[in-house]
Amino acid sequence: MENAEVLTKVLQSVSFDPGHEPVMPVEILEAFLPLKGRSPLRTFDGTFGRGGHFKLLMALFGQDVREAVVMDQDMTAVEHARRDFQTEVEAGRLKVVHGNFSEFSEHVQGPFDIMMLDLGVSSPQLDTADRGFSFYHDGPLDMRMNQQQELTAEIILNTASEDELNNLFRELGEVRRPFRVTRAVVHDRKTKAFKTTRELAGLIERVDGWRHKGVHPATQYFMALRLAVNDELGVLRTTLPAMMAALSPGGRLAVLTFHSLEDRIVKNIFKQPDVDGRAVHKKVIVPTQEECKRNSRSRSAKLRIFQRGVQDEPGHRSSP
Ligand SMILES: C[S@@+](CC[C@H](N)C(=O)[O-])C[C@H]1O[C@@H](n2cnc3c(N)ncnc32)[C@H](O)[C@@H]1O
Repeated sequence: MENAEVLTKVLQSVSFDPGHEPVMPVEILEAFLPLKGRSPLRTFDGTFGRGGHFKLLMALFGQDVREAVVMDQDMTAVEHARRDFQTEVEAGRLKVVHGNFSEFSEHVQGPFDIMMLDLGVSSPQLDTADRGFSFYHDGPLDMRMNQQQELTAEIILNTASEDELNNLFRELGEVRRPFRVTRAVVHDRKTKAFKTTRELAGLIERVDGWRHKGVHPATQYFMALRLAVNDELGVLRTTLPAMMAALSPGGRLAVLTFHSLEDRIVKNIFKQPDVDGRAVHKKVIVPTQEECKRNSRSRSAKLRIFQRGVQDEPGHRSSP
């Protein structure tokens, strides 16, 4: 069967929960297609979410997957994984781990043929007001992906110094001039601590001006707080090299990012001189215009693929 035919068949065979369509499904399948024919395979998905990409990969490789491991630090995602893939879990073919993918080597051992990260938050996390990720919904200033973690956005916003807040919004949110907002935050919190997403978004609208068109002025501030609460860049920086080293020879790692700072980290780590392997494409892969129209979440997506060592012949495994 031609590759295009294989991909069409896989895409037609998988259904996703409404509103939880995985980003760049075709490009993710294409990233791993060269491994078709290898058997048995071991796969690792460090950001399970609602399992959209995982379902695609299982449909592509089918019974060639001998062992799959999925992780998510969000307990709700883990519950979905255990429920939706109960048969595979009970058969011992799928291991579901609740935790940060930075701890993957404490739970599982490589080598893996297929590894994937789809970074950031999922649509269900964004759409659930109680999680506090979005200024479109009024909820607590939480933003924790892992509900067991202590640090929340509320703690950062109410306890960091004005300088620390300036640095955070400039570095992680790429806000050029956060000074008026941070001054107002520090002033207002003396009388009443910030508790909700609307309180913070309202302050930013008031101070930065909001004309109800274009990008909402709170977007970058919320992004910065979320990255800080979950230490997303730190985790990526420290874990990516370990994941690359956990690949089997010829194995592939795909990383989807949604933030320019994340993409820069991936790009630089993939091309470090001492790594055993290479980025599969010189240029970053971005979604098609058609996908951006269909799925607005994909608009800022960037995909990079790394392949370990020299390319293996399909069907041949040089390590157990
Ligand atoms: C964009 S969603 C993944 C969507 C998934 N690929 C799908 O198709 O359904 C990101 C998920 O990764 C999880 N996540 C983000 N960073 C994580 C980390 N460092 N460790 C574990 N899970 C993480 C989030 O909780 C969220 O559920």
